[in-house]
Amino acid sequence: MAVQQNFDLVFFGGTGDLALRKLLPGLYFLHKDAKDTSGWRIIAVSRQQLSDADYLNLITTTCRSYIPAADYNEQAWAAFASRIEYLPVDGAQASSFTGLADKLKGSEERTRVFYLSTAASLFAGICENLAAAGLVTPQSRVVLEKPLGFDGASSTSINEKVGAIFKEPQIFRIDHYLGKETVQNLIALRFGNAIFEPLWNSAMVRDVQITLAEQVGVEGRGEYYDRYGALRDMVQNHLLQLLCIVAMEPPPSIDPGAVRDEKLKVLRALRPFTPEAVRTKIVRGQYRGGAIGGKAVPGYLEEPGIPADSHTETFVAIQANLDNWRWARVPFYLRTGKRMQERLSEIVINFRPVPYSILPNTDRSDVNRLVIRLQPDESIQLFVQAKVPGADMRIRPVNLDLDFAKTFKTRRWDAYERLLMDVIGGNLTLFMRRDELDAAWRWIDPIHQAWAESGDPPKPYTSGTWGPTASSALIVRDGLTWKEEA
Ligand code: BG6
Repeated sequence: MAVQQNFDLVFFGGTGDLALRKLLPGLYFLHKDAKDTSGWRIIAVSRQQLSDADYLNLITTTCRSYIPAADYNEQAWAAFASRIEYLPVDGAQASSFTGLADKLKGSEERTRVFYLSTAASLFAGICENLAAAGLVTPQSRVVLEKPLGFDGASSTSINEKVGAIFKEPQIFRIDHYLGKETVQNLIALRFGNAIFEPLWNSAMVRDVQITLAEQVGVEGRGEYYDRYGALRDMVQNHLLQLLCIVAMEPPPSIDPGAVRDEKLKVLRALRPFTPEAVRTKIVRGQYRGGAIGGKAVPGYLEEPGIPADSHTETFVAIQANLDNWRWARVPFYLRTGKRMQERLSEIVINFRPVPYSILPNTDRSDVNRLVIRLQPDESIQLFVQAKVPGADMRIRPVNLDLDFAKTFKTRRWDAYERLLMDVIGGNLTLFMRRDELDAAWRWIDPIHQAWAESGDPPKPYTSGTWGPTASSALIVRDGLTWKEEA
């Protein structure tokens, strides 16, 4: 599949980290694979006063380090770069939009995408200024990066202001985790195979664990991160979206409305947290100095831009419950953290043990387990019990392994590549609808409130570990363990 349409893509935040690291490399690949790109136009904007040539120099040097050497081709890059123009625009100043209006004059009938890769506080102002400059056509779309707002109230306010200018089907709220290949594979696994559905419920599933563990720290984003913390940065969006894909009912079709309706039901079924439940079912942590891959790393409070008395969490583990028929009594353990022992994103479905074992030397806690791994490698593994060769009837778990890199030799798409293609093609299935976002914030807000009221600091953990010891205790208390401790 490749993008063939004619379109104008304007992205705000054109000199920002996301643009250089993800959006431009993603567009480069889409451009390289498309047969006819004569109708593509890409306009990067930011407040910096740069010429087209300055901008092209900047992106040529930077993006190159984000495109794998084997995929970088001078000619292909030059062809792609020839589609890019740069324009200094201050998104907060209406007067600054005249240059953009001049550039877009005459292309009113073409697909027009405004990608706002800026702080959410600028979204409403940029949209209002686009409208005032007469740039919002029926063919226009706007892409909003996460986190959309700081809490439910600010998210509502942004959505209302953006919604006064763009209609809901024109608004693409991005969560790049939904663009990851393995997440779409989870949809294929659940709804393309008949064998899993009968197992996909509380009768057969004992617990679900979703882990998004990173080895990186705050990476020069201290100011942003300290304000937001892990709950807003990772749980409110990425983790909850993965939970939705795991737990939703089969939608009647893959259409955006059908999928988003089912995800919304999951978010609405999340049991709300009381202050008492926040204390007992959520662990928040903050990393101290330690070592990652044998190299010493500083603690969170020593990172540039972080106040010495910060209570911002860099780790969260949550025991969540879904109050609905399918998932009653199945705990969902959600966990994310920076400076963890490994970079690992995976969804683990632990099935119930056999009701009674007739096999000698069997540990009933060795359950069937389905592991959907998103990072660092992409795979789906199903652990089943098998007999160890030999005279004795000895049983141990073996792995039926689908390794995507080995099975499919084609290049793996980056999440942003996929999502950019969907934005240009107008496919909303992998984007969040406003009511999903509202429901997610309704669940998240009371957690922040309870933390603020308690005043307790996050629990310290050493960089290069799996988080505070309380995280293990959270799950052990239910008679279970995290996968890496099993
Ligand atoms: C972003 C967060 O949304 O996701 C970052 O703001 C985080 O803090 C990143 O590092 C992780 O994404 P990925 O795709 O590298 O797992």
